[in-house]
Amino acid sequence: PLMKELFGLNQLEAELKAFLGVKHVVIVPGDADASDWVKKEMGRAGARYLKQQAAPEQIVAVSGGTTMLAVAEMMMPTPAFKQTTFVPTRGGVGEAVELEANYIASLMAKRTGGTYRMLHIPDELSDEAYQTLQKEPHIREVLDLLRSARMVVHGIGDAKTMAIRRKSSAEVLAKLEAGKAVGESFGYYFDRDGQIVHRVRTLGLDLEGLERVEQKVAVAGGASKAEAIVAVCSLVSQDTLITDEGAARAILKNA
Ligand code: BG6
Repeated sequence: PLMKELFGLNQLEAELKAFLGVKHVVIVPGDADASDWVKKEMGRAGARYLKQQAAPEQIVAVSGGTTMLAVAEMMMPTPAFKQTTFVPTRGGVGEAVELEANYIASLMAKRTGGTYRMLHIPDELSDEAYQTLQKEPHIREVLDLLRSARMVVHGIGDAKTMAIRRKSSAEVLAKLEAGKAVGESFGYYFDRDGQIVHRVRTLGLDLEGLERVEQKVAVAGGASKAEAIVAVCSLVSQDTLITDEGAARAILKNA
């Protein structure tokens, strides 16, 4: 709290909350684009928030990414977490294994004493595979768990950065550019008004399922994600945003 006063962050949190229409906003000092330490602090703030909110027998859906990895690395055991099931929002992303939602869900469970389930499917599916896998009983089971999640914790990415990280085709990259995509979350790419430009065909939590989740928590920072955060918040009614000063100031500058 003292640090926050020092940096004037309480005021910034109030302004960002009003501008984005998000119920709770937590801002850590600094800019994650400039320093990895700031991402770790976002991770710490995220882990603390999850611990405060934890309820017995809950299902928590978690996405992948470097920011979510930072959250997972800061998690600590609580009695409620021991009865928590961590479930990945989707399958793999075709990127480094430790950035996959599967790995992050398992790490959260390991660090907190909770349990986890896996979605062992590629992130990008053909039409045929999508139809077949959807009917697999053990995949069905995980999808059903996702549908009853009490909380979802997820990252938000810059559209182009994510498309490149996923090694998307030139065709997809062109589509994103033509549609002026700025942000990405849950495999959906959005333009600055929160309109969907493209979707990765995948199995997991979709927008419809997301609407049913009681508590939606986004963790994303760095000035470069300013537009992406605005876009995702205008489409998905977020309950909580954990971000950094760099992103907050960049968002409010363009407000
Ligand atoms: C991915 C999520 O793993 O992480 C994306 O699937 C999200 O939805 C991205 O946009 C954010 O990654 P990072 O590394 O910027 O936190």
